[in-house]
Amino acid sequence: MTLVSTATSLPGQMLDEYLATARAAVDRWLDQRLPTEQVAPATLHRAMRHSLFAGGKRLRPVLCLAAAEACGGSREDALPAAAAVECIHTFSLIHDDLPCMDDDDFRRGVPTCHKVFGDAVAVLAGDALQALAFEMVAAMPGNAACPAAAMVHELAQASGSLHLIGGQVLDLEGEGRDLSAPELQAIHERKTAALLATSVRLGAMSAAAGDQQLAALTRFGRTVGLAFQVIDDILDVTQSSETLGKSAGKDQAVGKATYPQVFGLERSREIAHQLTDEAHAALEPFGGDGAMLRAIGDYLLVREY
Ligand code: IPE
Ligand code: IPE
Ligand code: MG
Ligand code: MG
Ligand code: MG
Repeated sequence: MTLVSTATSLPGQMLDEYLATARAAVDRWLDQRLPTEQVAPATLHRAMRHSLFAGGKRLRPVLCLAAAEACGGSREDALPAAAAVECIHTFSLIHDDLPCMDDDDFRRGVPTCHKVFGDAVAVLAGDALQALAFEMVAAMPGNAACPAAAMVHELAQASGSLHLIGGQVLDLEGEGRDLSAPELQAIHERKTAALLATSVRLGAMSAAAGDQQLAALTRFGRTVGLAFQVIDDILDVTQSSETLGKSAGKDQAVGKATYPQVFGLERSREIAHQLTDEAHAALEPFGGDGAMLRAIGDYLLVREY
């Protein structure tokens, strides 16, 4: 599939090529590090691979690699962190889809992990992907500006009770309730924006980024991350299940707190645009070195799934 970029500073073809090669590098790395389906317990490794290689967009790892390169680092040095954020993300999706959470049957165009392997193995496949993510980051060499332990700490914070997992709890508790705009924003910042920001930050840390670069990229990651979940909420209303590869229209059916529910579709689109503008403003210190991140930010806004 060809992805369209609205970036003014970068031809769409360059973005498409970047996304394709970055995704291929991440997939190769993941395939090498994950136990094969033959390794015992085979059911567990099949379940992990089922969800991980079902065809996700790999946006978090791509952002990680692009951030590393914007800071003058290499793709190779950032790859373990990129693979790790994808493992955390896939773990969160497997659990998000469970009957006790969003109860979804399709993900990434295929039946969800628990539909194929049962609830118990799905829970455990998610757990194992989470552990694998930390194994990958802990094994990174680190650098003078940032030891591996700091990167492990970064990933643990983003995944934990104050961010991703805490956001998932608030999301579930918000079902069927009328939330205020700040409450809704707090959920989306935790459950989604935190891991996107950490994806970018880990890329920068692998490149021994300075404090100013890290602060700018943190702002970029948080705003683009919030825009990402606003768009996810919009796509749930506007796209078909076939296009999304997951069940569309679910949010309204279960009374989820979403941007379209609180602000309406048009205002939600405006908010996503404003956030993307803010994200781009954060990249100003990078000049031309921020062009790929800028293009990815634009693509996230116009994506159709
Ligand atoms: C879906 O994320 C879950 C959210 C946090 C909104 P993605 O849209 O990145 O899902 P994949 O990885 O492409 O399947
Ligand atoms: C998912 O949010 C956030 C996490 C998995 C942390 P959603 O529940 O909106 O994601 P989808 O729409 O199922 O992909
Ligand atoms: Mg959810
Ligand atoms: Mg969900
Ligand atoms: Mg959603």
